Amino acid sequence: MQVRINRLTLDVTDKGQGPALLLLHGYPLDHRMWEAQIEFFRHTHRVIAPDLRGMGQSEGCSTNINIDQYADDIIALLDELGINRVTVAGFSMGGYVLFALLRKAPSRISAIVLVNTRADSDTLEGQRNRLEASQHLLEHGASSARQAMLSKLLSDTTVHDQPQLVDQVGSWMQEQTPIGLVHAQLAMAFRPDSTSMLASIKVPTIVIGGEHDKIIPPALIKQLASSIPNAKYRLIAETAHLTPVEKPDAFNNLLSDFLGKAHI
Ligand code: MLT
Repeated sequence: MQVRINRLTLDVTDKGQGPALLLLHGYPLDHRMWEAQIEFFRHTHRVIAPDLRGMGQSEGCSTNINIDQYADDIIALLDELGINRVTVAGFSMGGYVLFALLRKAPSRISAIVLVNTRADSDTLEGQRNRLEASQHLLEHGASSARQAMLSKLLSDTTVHDQPQLVDQVGSWMQEQTPIGLVHAQLAMAFRPDSTSMLASIKVPTIVIGGEHDKIIPPALIKQLASSIPNAKYRLIAETAHLTPVEKPDAFNNLLSDFLGKAHI
């Protein structure tokens, strides 16, 4: 469905009934990366999966934005949908937005699920790479994101065993609007460091990573989990970066167990 907030239209999936579970996608993707989670958790939860502004079917904007803008959109969306408190799962870039949400509206968040994400900001080299990627996007369109990212998102096992999934993820990327991806790259390049807030997180937390993730390797995921009081740490075997898509059953079981134990 389409929801009008902050002078633009977001495309939002809103399915099921029960405690609210918000799924924030990564780059260069949209809510479709959560298809298996939406289908699984809609039987027990109200699952909200928006496309962030400028990505998927959501309207973009003409001016530059930062990570906080995505979080402001989410807060406005929760207001519009009448949701007071929510469990938030943030995958990679979605995790950066989750940290911004924690800064801006901590009282709205009942538990957090950090998926293949990190709390630190970019190095100078990382920022340089993003500026270069932005230039490629402007010159060659979304196919440059597909070319740069597809092989990093999926493990060798997935590439070998699930060629249809590889094609599907590739077309999700290919269908993105280049300028929306440029805005996302720039927002990520200049996102604030969130490491100083980790020790003060009080809500139930699980941190999930992929055994072979080269974008955010297991060592970083483990360090993130150990910086958050009482956070659970789990790695999913035979996955790279895109764990919820590569091993949906393993992912859903972990998340379901976590939500059950947190009585959510
Ligand atoms: C993502 O999966 O959202 C991106 O790889 C995150 C990033 O580029 O830092």
